[in-house]
Amino acid sequence: MISGATLLAGVVGNPIAHSMSPILHNAWLAAAGIDGVYAPFRVTEERFASFVDGLRGGSVRGLNVTIPFKERALSLADRAGDRATMAGAANVLVFEADGTIVADNTDGLGLLAAFAEQAPGFDPKAGPVAILGAGGGARGAAAAFTAAGCREVRIVNRTQARAQAITDLLGGEAFGLHRAAAAFEDAIAVVNATSAGLAGEGQLDVPLEATPAACVVMDMVYKPLVTPFLARARALERRTVDGLAMLVGQAIPSFEAFYGQPPPADVDVRALALKRLEAR
Ligand code: ATR
Repeated sequence: MISGATLLAGVVGNPIAHSMSPILHNAWLAAAGIDGVYAPFRVTEERFASFVDGLRGGSVRGLNVTIPFKERALSLADRAGDRATMAGAANVLVFEADGTIVADNTDGLGLLAAFAEQAPGFDPKAGPVAILGAGGGARGAAAAFTAAGCREVRIVNRTQARAQAITDLLGGEAFGLHRAAAAFEDAIAVVNATSAGLAGEGQLDVPLEATPAACVVMDMVYKPLVTPFLARARALERRTVDGLAMLVGQAIPSFEAFYGQPPPADVDVRALALKRLEAR
């Protein structure tokens, strides 16, 4: 039941209809007995800044931010935590009552939680990691691996200058997409952080066979759960990590940022999301 005191939060992106975040957060809200609603917001590029500005004061408690707004979300905030600053991108905005906007980045936590869960024994310190893409998702991943002690983060992107902008900030090496095979050589992990595979964005064609047999392959896209990218990795007998594990992993600290308490541990949100993904 929605009341006059209901706390509002949500996720903003474009496209957004595919997002599983509302399924996760609303299930947690119900289980925790919190009077709250978590809704999807599809906003155009030109209206994003005015949309965010209009929420100052806290009529909406907080937002998760997804493609393609993570970098702009950080620039619109008044304050940012270290994780967001290091990533140069934010996937969480909290609207304080005094009108300020606080940014955080929980994508990196989600990414590392997903590896811990689905690739047990994976050690980010053990070798180079290759990240495909140079948007906000890629920045969050690069910052997380760097903070976890990875000795070389390789950023591979269609537009190499964007990859370079990340390595200028965090170190590591930038590659054009045509040099993906060189970036995959001796990599302990390859992470797809491009929007390729999302509706209308085309597919990513990279030579996964250039990765070592022990390389772990991850895709941030989770619809379908086994993306063509992950299916190719599995055909090559690589261990894989799916984007749904990361989504849940970033949603837990996001929930805490919005409501000041961790989500109830006894809700199987992965199963709920899987059921919804299969129904589509
Ligand atoms: P976000 O900030 O949320 O990560 P983004 O800034 O739109 O979103 O980033 C999308 C990423 O996917 C970019 O790295 C983009 O490459 P460019 O920087 O060259 O634009 C990448 N991308 C999108 N579609 C792609 C495709 N079909 N093949 C390869 N890369 C693609």
